[in-house]
Amino acid sequence: MSEPIQWKVQLFKLNYDEREYNAVLKTLKSGWITMGQRTVDFETAYAKELGEGAQCLAVANGTASLHIAVLACGVRPGDEVIVPSLTFIADLNSVQVSGGKVVIGDVTSLSDWSMDPADIEAKITPRTKAVMIVHYAGYACDMDAIVDICRRHNLKLIEDCAHANGGTYKGRKLGTFGDVSAWSFFSNKNLAVGEGGMVVTRDPELYQKCKNLRSHGMTVASFDRMKGRAATYDVLEPGFNYRIDEVRASLGLVQLAKLPEANAARARLVARYFSRLDGIEALTIPFRYYDRGTPTYHIMPILLSEHIDRVKLIDLMKEDGVQTSIHYPAIQSFTAYKSQVGPTPKSQYVSDHELTLPLYPTMTDAEVDLVCDSLEKNLQKCRN
Ligand SMILES: Cc1ncc(COP(=O)(O)O)c(C=O)c1O
Repeated sequence: MSEPIQWKVQLFKLNYDEREYNAVLKTLKSGWITMGQRTVDFETAYAKELGEGAQCLAVANGTASLHIAVLACGVRPGDEVIVPSLTFIADLNSVQVSGGKVVIGDVTSLSDWSMDPADIEAKITPRTKAVMIVHYAGYACDMDAIVDICRRHNLKLIEDCAHANGGTYKGRKLGTFGDVSAWSFFSNKNLAVGEGGMVVTRDPELYQKCKNLRSHGMTVASFDRMKGRAATYDVLEPGFNYRIDEVRASLGLVQLAKLPEANAARARLVARYFSRLDGIEALTIPFRYYDRGTPTYHIMPILLSEHIDRVKLIDLMKEDGVQTSIHYPAIQSFTAYKSQVGPTPKSQYVSDHELTLPLYPTMTDAEVDLVCDSLEKNLQKCRN
């Protein structure tokens, strides 16, 4: 068996300390670990953060939140949903497993990787039911334009907010623009609980649908039965077990409280990256002059020039102990989707040349410098 790599700088690190450890211990000692009061507290605190009448349902993971969002928005077999071309595959999978058909929308430009509103509008057909957008890396899409398109064409809008914890668009919290927003608290996210997610809506009817889907359409939860508030329950409609548990909800509460500070640390580190990388001829930085709101800086993506051999660069940086990644491979490269989706030339170019550098709130300036030194040195050796 080969030795695990000793990274000098990992792609991401958990931002955990005694507060998370104590919260988990307290939960374990409470004697109730499935969905209960801590989940309610997490949902309430999350809703307060978002404002705008947001109602929140904590769920098992981000994919569950997307699946619930797609079904609650009424996507049925034959319906088309316009989804991002530069995103994690969960967006497409949640539509496809619901019987919908994905139509991918391209990014705006090689410097603005959010979905292009004009491309969304061009791809609307009589079968389009919904639009799903992602705030890539925590940079908001052009929400004025996208909300307007959805209103004019009577389409549901789903916001994939997996990268957007704490982000705003023109001062308003992300996740409050769509009919439903879907959040992920996977380990590498700005708010991390391991596996977890949130479904958010401001529409009471959609809220009830999402709630039914989360827990088998049951009218009463086991916590309520344990508390003696009800002896039995009804089932209103079919659903899943997409519930979160109390351990993760308690982690979520701590992480939510730490989010502003953690995102501010990311912002400082990204500013350092910018000052180190500006002017390097072999790369550009997307969203470099972004001005639509406060980003969350979920990841630190760069775009390599087409003369750079990316695979070689990744290997050389690995030899220096620097972990990198790619966000995201082109949808057209996946077996399950290549025959189903059309071309999206700009995002395909991004997929071929993007490189994600390490970023996490506890990263030091020296670690940013180490990454930039390795990148700069190795770029010279990777010219085609
Ligand atoms: C953009 C995006 N959407 C959806 C998801 C799915 O979230 P989860 O991994 O919690 O199911 C992720 C997580 O990796 C993501 O990055």
